Amino acid sequence: MSDALPRRRFLQSAGAAAVWVPTTVKGYSAEEMRSRALDDELQVEVSKWELDTPALCVDLDALEANLRRMQEAVARNGIATRPHAKTHKCPQIARLQMESGSVGICAAKVSEAEVLLEHGLQSVLMTTPNVTPSKIQRAMRLRARHGGFIQATDSPENARDLSAAAVAAGITAEVVIDVDPGAHRTGIAPGRPALELAQLVDRLPGLRLAGMLCYDGGSQHVRGFQERRAQTLARLEPAVETRAMMLRTGLSTEIFSGGGTGTYNIDHANAGFTDVQAGSYVFMDAQYLAIGGATDPEVYSDFEPSLTILTTVLNSQHEGQVTTDAGTKACTLNQPWPIVKGEAGMTYRAGSDEFGTLRYDDPSRTYRAGDKLELIVSHCDPVVNLYDQMYAVRNDRVRAIWQIAARGKSV
Ligand SMILES: Cc1ncc(COP(=O)(O)O)c(C=O)c1O
Repeated sequence: MSDALPRRRFLQSAGAAAVWVPTTVKGYSAEEMRSRALDDELQVEVSKWELDTPALCVDLDALEANLRRMQEAVARNGIATRPHAKTHKCPQIARLQMESGSVGICAAKVSEAEVLLEHGLQSVLMTTPNVTPSKIQRAMRLRARHGGFIQATDSPENARDLSAAAVAAGITAEVVIDVDPGAHRTGIAPGRPALELAQLVDRLPGLRLAGMLCYDGGSQHVRGFQERRAQTLARLEPAVETRAMMLRTGLSTEIFSGGGTGTYNIDHANAGFTDVQAGSYVFMDAQYLAIGGATDPEVYSDFEPSLTILTTVLNSQHEGQVTTDAGTKACTLNQPWPIVKGEAGMTYRAGSDEFGTLRYDDPSRTYRAGDKLELIVSHCDPVVNLYDQMYAVRNDRVRAIWQIAARGKSV
């Protein structure tokens, strides 16, 4: 996002201009807002511009449009979604995803899976293998309480440990094998090693084989749709062959999960692929906006940016810049930096712990201390993890307060 033109396109895609807010607005704290809510629903109308900042907001119209667009796309392509909750860590959003037609939800960590299942989500696939005795115990306890819990394994040793723990707990654990697309992050090598692992899982007394997953994270942010398509299909080819080997030997291939927001409209071209684990599509962010899509090579406009941070100007005493209250602790250090919504001439840097610096060469108007601005987040997952709650907003009015119940659940 270095040249001005794509940046302007970003901002256009980001929608309406910033709203001028008089400095006299109340600035409701999180506690005050919670006291106005009953079962998360707000009883009194409050404008989002009245919130104390930094505040994390999700625009309901944009969120719902993203859910709809994703479901329509996968339905057209004959596959399903199993969205990753590592993005939002929020049971309310997971429920909306299930209501929109998803077949289940993914979790990255056992603590995240616990939160989702304990909040009533019924089918949760944990995509990271559990390798320590304590995590394996937690996973078995979860499986004992929730029949819809599925976990990944990527080595014969781990599969044996899972099976022993399941037998000791008197249960059968449901397992998918995690196949490495070549990134060498997690996953077993495709082909014979993966097949043998699947055969082992199928034989072990405490396990039931439910299929496989292969997540190609390295392709999600490749710029240009054709480049992304070529790369991910090439990387998934060995996993597709592995699935065919499993099928030929009579093993379960009921799940072949993978993919994400960058490849959701490509993954179905992998034979036997069943569901996309996309996470970021619900919110979008500056990193994803930059990759370009099938119909728009400059801006990835398949989904709308729904997640924003409200920030307040603290100081405007220097020409061409203002200081705001949203720095690294509100925005993370990820880049590209957050995008100032509706202000094409402004660049934002969140590089200081407590402060953001906003520079402008072409402001639509000048800002004063107390004024508020709205930022499209840089990378949605780690930003969400900084907040206890997000405000669900429609037409700039706060409609509900959603707890980010799995916030900080990184164990
Ligand atoms: C295993 C796995 N699946 C799915 C996703 C979702 O990807 P995205 O947020 O790019 O849609 C991630 C994200 O890192 C992941 O690690």
